Amino acid sequence: MISLLKHKTGLNLGYYRRTFILRRIQARMIRINCENLEKYNSYLLSNVNELKRFVESFHINYTYFFRDWDVYATIQKIVLQSLDSNDEDFLKYLRPRIPESPEKLPLRTKIAGQEIKHSKMLFSNLRKTSLYNKINNSKRVKLPLYIWSCACATGEEPYSLAMLLDNIRNSFPTFSRFEIVASDIDKFAIETAKRGIYTEESIKFMSNYFETKYFKEKSTPIGNEYYLSPKIRDSITLLNEDITKIHLYSWKFDLIFCRNLLIYFNIENRTRFIRTLEQQLNNGGLLVLGKSESLFEQEGDLKMVDPTHHIYMKDAFSNI
Ligand SMILES: C[S@@+](CC[C@H](N)C(=O)[O-])C[C@H]1O[C@@H](n2cnc3c(N)ncnc32)[C@H](O)[C@@H]1O
Repeated sequence: MISLLKHKTGLNLGYYRRTFILRRIQARMIRINCENLEKYNSYLLSNVNELKRFVESFHINYTYFFRDWDVYATIQKIVLQSLDSNDEDFLKYLRPRIPESPEKLPLRTKIAGQEIKHSKMLFSNLRKTSLYNKINNSKRVKLPLYIWSCACATGEEPYSLAMLLDNIRNSFPTFSRFEIVASDIDKFAIETAKRGIYTEESIKFMSNYFETKYFKEKSTPIGNEYYLSPKIRDSITLLNEDITKIHLYSWKFDLIFCRNLLIYFNIENRTRFIRTLEQQLNNGGLLVLGKSESLFEQEGDLKMVDPTHHIYMKDAFSNI
């Protein structure tokens, strides 16, 4: 059934975990009240609309602005330290108005959620990162920072990064230019990202500071809508692509966010996919995974530098 579905749907099903595929099938069967797999199989293969719904069920777009804000605080600290600046003043801009997971606060933070636990290993390797080397450069014309949000869903992740960097640039006018590419297999999610209009749900863990600075609020009969500033909306490139088949940019990135995608992939293809990400990183580039995702101890040239925030650094010369 799976190889037939692969052919019919165009989905590269070989990448996804078997249990994940079965759960998608089961969810559709329950939805349409179909009691056995054979019946569902023939219904799916003869019904174009069901085929479309089945493909859509692979697009789990759950995301929100500044998801795991301590990860953003870590990226912010890297950038500020590369500018030889202190991040204390900037931390307050990021702090969400309500804690994301109050029960985890004592673990991750000190005093009332103000201070984030940063990895010593990451900061002792700071000068090796390509972000540091590009930012902390006295040349008048600096190389741009290249960032990729891989599996960006409806855009909250790349836009959060764009706001964070834009906010820093307001205080440091000579700060490097940045180019953010964001991609997802789901073309409707990419269209939503292009519109840049969000609901209360997407912005719930954002700080008041970022909301006021970068959004316009409009009330509608079904709740408030939040319009992202065109400056931020136009600062990222959005691509509709299936990462298991193609990636359209040949750039080498300084930072790749690939969060909450690996969980869907099976072990064999996960490794192949990680190689793709590794190849797309500059030496000293950072890979950020989701909170429930990690690589094996050391995969290729990727070295774990921040176990709390699941950050890896490409360190191609360390094994020589
Ligand atoms: C849970 S969202 C992650 C969003 C964001 N990175 C975050 O962590 O908040 C997972 C996304 O992966 C996308 N996705 C699944 N398979 C993909 C593939 N083969 N290529 C690109 N995107 C894919 C889905 O469409 C979905 O938008």
